[in-house]
Amino acid sequence: MLFCSVFFFLRKITRKTTREKKMNADTLELARKYDSVSSVYMQNGVRDKALSWIELEKDDVVLEVGCGSGRLCKILSPRVNSVTGLDISVGLIELAKRENPASNVQFFEEDAQTFGPHLHDWREKFDKILSFTVLQWCSDKESILKNVYRCLKPGGIFLLDFGLHGQCMGEWSSYGETADVWVRKHPKWGSYLQNCGYAIYYTKSSEGFLEIMRSVGFIIQRSEVKQRPWVKWNEETIKSQLRCLFYPIKHIPAEHQDEFIDDVYKWLYDVTPKRSKDVLQGEVGRFENMTIVATKE
Ligand SMILES: C[S@@+](CC[C@H](N)C(=O)[O-])C[C@H]1O[C@@H](n2cnc3c(N)ncnc32)[C@H](O)[C@@H]1O
Repeated sequence: MLFCSVFFFLRKITRKTTREKKMNADTLELARKYDSVSSVYMQNGVRDKALSWIELEKDDVVLEVGCGSGRLCKILSPRVNSVTGLDISVGLIELAKRENPASNVQFFEEDAQTFGPHLHDWREKFDKILSFTVLQWCSDKESILKNVYRCLKPGGIFLLDFGLHGQCMGEWSSYGETADVWVRKHPKWGSYLQNCGYAIYYTKSSEGFLEIMRSVGFIIQRSEVKQRPWVKWNEETIKSQLRCLFYPIKHIPAEHQDEFIDDVYKWLYDVTPKRSKDVLQGEVGRFENMTIVATKE
């Protein structure tokens, strides 16, 4: 009994900590906003290019880790046996369920670093596991790799793409001072950000990451690190992105968040070279993705 209480207490605080660090898409409204931002990410073709590295079969049982609003699950569901999407965001999973009525698609709200109860239920269940632009949000990448390995069938394939290193979000302006440093020194906003941590966990070495994958048991079939071009962003998309992804916003009282976003946007606009009228390029570029195909023997 005591053990159970301690377990649930620890799980609660661990989940809270993780939740504080992820992006801001807890409500359906924010999830929709975030989804529009995330679909802009995909215009740079990262996901489609990665998908071209593997063959999906009609019988495949597929899991997508960090499925967001389930866009990819929707695309894949007619092509495979079944698709399961897992994501930590309450709002995105709710949106995914609404947008994906197909009977062979299921969604679960869960942290990829634990897999919750699914870790047991999904043992050796999946032929293919996919994950796109998720791992940079997670501090404990090794646990995700172990969970994925456990849930893959022998002979199964893991296709992974994530931000290895980048200049975005907090590091956005990338020309000297960055947005998250600037807001901390701001006379008004700084006072709210005394206890604001950092949310993105980049990986220092691509080779080191592959070594971790090998130590988990994966056999690396192919990998690539590439600088990715980012599409042009206008005021609306940048503000949506700030609303969902600029983590200090979680520390700003709701009634001040619009003003906060306006201030950060104005600052970004001032410090960032313009690609063309009203289009910033400071957050564009210098984002390195790593794509990996690995198998389980
Ligand atoms: C940039 S989005 C990518 C979404 C989707 N994979 C796509 O390609 O459109 C990152 C996703 O990772 C999810 N995420 C972040 N941390 C997570 C975690 N610890 N466990 C599961 N999902 C997580 C977010 O909620 C979000 O949906």
